[in-house]
Amino acid sequence: MEAVARPELFDFHGVCMTHFFTDNWEDIQNFEARPDDILIVSYPKAGSTWVSYILDLLYFGQTHPERETSIPLSVRVVLLEIEFPWLFPGSKSTPRIIKGTKMINHLTVSPRIIKTHLPVQFLPKSFFEQKCKIVSVARNAKDSVVSYFHFEHMMPFYPEPGEWGSYLQRFMDAKMNFGSWYDHVKGWWEKKQTHPNIHYVFYEDLAEDCGREIEKLCCFLGLSPSPEETERIAQKVHFDEMKKNNMVNLVMFLETDTNKTSFIRKGKVGDWKNHFTVAQSETFDEHYKQKMKNCPLEFHTEV
Ligand code: A3P
Repeated sequence: MEAVARPELFDFHGVCMTHFFTDNWEDIQNFEARPDDILIVSYPKAGSTWVSYILDLLYFGQTHPERETSIPLSVRVVLLEIEFPWLFPGSKSTPRIIKGTKMINHLTVSPRIIKTHLPVQFLPKSFFEQKCKIVSVARNAKDSVVSYFHFEHMMPFYPEPGEWGSYLQRFMDAKMNFGSWYDHVKGWWEKKQTHPNIHYVFYEDLAEDCGREIEKLCCFLGLSPSPEETERIAQKVHFDEMKKNNMVNLVMFLETDTNKTSFIRKGKVGDWKNHFTVAQSETFDEHYKQKMKNCPLEFHTEV
C-alpha cells in the first residue's frame, strides 16, 4: 500500500482546508440531523476525544458496556466531515474510503453522538433546525497549537507541519486545516449568545476538576447518573487510563506514525512553555490581544 500523500491547504469559502475534509461536502451540507443527536464541536486538539469518551460513557456505559471494548471510540463518536482511507484494527484487508456522514447514518444507537471541527458557518443547518444539543469544547490557543503541531507529525491526512517556528507563524496566520483558531472560537462563542442549546466545556476546567465538569454536562443534557457512576466515569477518562486504552488511543488510520507521537500525548495545561521561546510567547500574546480584542472569552494558559 502506498503512503498517503500529505494534502495541500487551499482556500475553501474563506477558510483553509484540505481535501480530506471537504471531498464529501455535498453530503455534509445535506446531512440530516435528528433532534436527539448530540454534537461535539471544537477546533482541533481542544480535548474533543476526552469529551467524546465522557458522553459515550454517560449514554452507553451501563446499557451497552460491550461497546467500550469492541468498538474504537472514533467509530462510536464519528467525525462528521472525514473522508479518507481507514483500516480497522486487526483487519488485513485493503483499507476502505470511509465517509463520516455514512458512518453516522449507520449508527444504530440513540442518541447519536457526533463530532465536528467545522467552523460555525460550515455546520449543516439541520443541526440548528432540529435544535440539537451542542457541546462546544475549547482550549487555550498556546496549548492548542503545540498539540496540533505534534498531531500533524503523526497524521498524514494533514499538511506537512514543518519546523516549530514556521508552524507557529502559520497558526497565527490562520494557515491551518479548519482555518483560524481565533475565528473558530469566536464564531462558536457568538453563536452561543443566540442559541440556547450550546454548552461550553473548557479543557482547562476539565483538567482542574473533571467530576465537576461531568456534572455540568449532565445538567445540560438532562442526565442524572448516580454519584458512583459519575466517579466511575471520571476515573475511566483520566489521562493515564485513556492513554493505555487501545480503543481510545489506538489510531487506526492508515499510515499513522505512532512512533513520532501518541494521539493521547501529554494532556497538560501549560505544555506550551516547553515549546515557545520567550520572544515567540511575547509576539504571540501581542497578536492574540489584537485578534481577540472584542471577545470576552478568557482562557487559562497554566494551572
Ligand atoms: P496534548 O497533545 O496536549 O497531549 P482532541 O481530542 O480534540 O484531538 O485533543 C487532543 C488533546 O487532548 C491532546 O493534547 C490529548 O493528549 C488531550 N487529551 C485527551 N484525553 C485527555 C485526558 N483524559 N486528559 C487530559 N488530556 C487529554
